[in-house]
Amino acid sequence: MNEADTEIIRAVLSKEDFQFVTDEIDADVVMLNTCAIRENAHRKVYGRIHDIRHRRAGKPVTIGILGCMATNLRQDLLENKNLDIDFIAGPDSYKRLGDLIRQSGLHGEKPFDVTLSEFETYCDIYPQHKTGVNAWVAVSRGCDNFCTFCVVPYTRGRERSRSVENIVEEVRRLAIEGFKQVTLLGQNVNSYIDYSHPQQIASSPLNETPRNDAKPRDFADLLDAVSQIDGIERIRFTSPHPKDFPEKLIAVVAKNPKVCKHIHLPLQSGNTRVLEMMNRTYTQQEFLDLATKVRAMCPDIFLTTDIIVGFPTETEAEFEDTVKVVKDVQFDAAFIFKYSERKNTVASKRYPDNITEDQKKSRIVRLQEIQKEITYKKNSAYIGKTLKVLLEHGTNKLKNDFVGRTDGGHLVLLPQGNYQSGQIIDVMIISASPHALKGNVISPNPSSLQLDTNSKI
Ligand code: 5AD
Ligand code: SF4
Repeated sequence: MNEADTEIIRAVLSKEDFQFVTDEIDADVVMLNTCAIRENAHRKVYGRIHDIRHRRAGKPVTIGILGCMATNLRQDLLENKNLDIDFIAGPDSYKRLGDLIRQSGLHGEKPFDVTLSEFETYCDIYPQHKTGVNAWVAVSRGCDNFCTFCVVPYTRGRERSRSVENIVEEVRRLAIEGFKQVTLLGQNVNSYIDYSHPQQIASSPLNETPRNDAKPRDFADLLDAVSQIDGIERIRFTSPHPKDFPEKLIAVVAKNPKVCKHIHLPLQSGNTRVLEMMNRTYTQQEFLDLATKVRAMCPDIFLTTDIIVGFPTETEAEFEDTVKVVKDVQFDAAFIFKYSERKNTVASKRYPDNITEDQKKSRIVRLQEIQKEITYKKNSAYIGKTLKVLLEHGTNKLKNDFVGRTDGGHLVLLPQGNYQSGQIIDVMIISASPHALKGNVISPNPSSLQLDTNSKI
């Protein structure tokens, strides 16, 4: 989401005649677009601020902190004498960035705007998308779920969606620019709902009329609408919540050929008591039933998940429930995190972080080992199969392989060749590791692949 926001920021500032440089050493202003989701994200940012000042060796530079840390740690950022920053802007304040930059340093002030909006979706800004095969498209912002461990509802505010028309218009432009894949983004992307709120429409560049009499359109409707755009070959989305997976949505993923057969289904914990403390609104059994239903309706689905270990009061036996679910569901991949207490969250106020670092470490290591084996076994099952691979970009530097992705999302490494990024080719998988598949091109005939010098790499 921060990458997508940075593309919006570039568009906003370009309109005001700011110019972008490729190396921060040449910049008059450096902005760090920050994440506050876990402790290590925020430590990294504090380190980067010191690095930037150090590299400049006394040459003046204006440093701005943008994004979630700006809203979450405003006080600390403004008052901490060890942190030399000049201005702060939260995720809904990017249209004011030019003003904040111009005001910073005037009369020794540190201007800030961390106001959260109920309506800002930046639907009137066409982002300056990074070149490549994939474009991020933020379809909604904010989150209303208030999982007790999560800072997002406080840093990004209430959930709001752009209209279907507005999103379709952006994706149409992306297709014309040559993008082959879009990834639809939202903090809780599958609770997307287009009410076409009059206030939102007022700021839309499309002269839309309020659809007060019409039925709101949901995420499945949005996927169908986006899939009708010629030139877009693949549609991905992240991050969904298990509570927002009606059969209608699973059916679109299963049946619409452009919608990638990949669902990220964040489990967080496999224990019902912990899930309740987390305010996840589903039980272990409900999660298992959903995974079973998804696999039944879409047998070739690539399922991934997020898991937190060491949530306050989680016992060894409760952690074993998470292990059980991981083994039962057989996710293709999992992102596993140690619980990290975040300021302002319900968990930080109600539940002392009472699981020791050693316990968290031993649980994460154990789960990662189990998942690694599952991923390796699942990846190995593709050996000898032919898969459609979207060629993404040039070689990965270390090994000199060309990189592509399957519909599900596996990384596929290909030997050197005259490939064209954006092309979808048939690849025979010849080997697998827990991280990637390796393959040879089957069709089109490798010798007929021409390097397109205009392709976006
Ligand atoms: N501690 C650890 N992990 C967290 N996540 C969100 N908040 C926390 C936290 N306080 C993880 C969740 C979420 C992913 C994006 O980050 O697993 O799905
Ligand atoms: Fe955070 Fe995701 Fe829960 Fe929203 S749904 S509160 S973004 S973990």
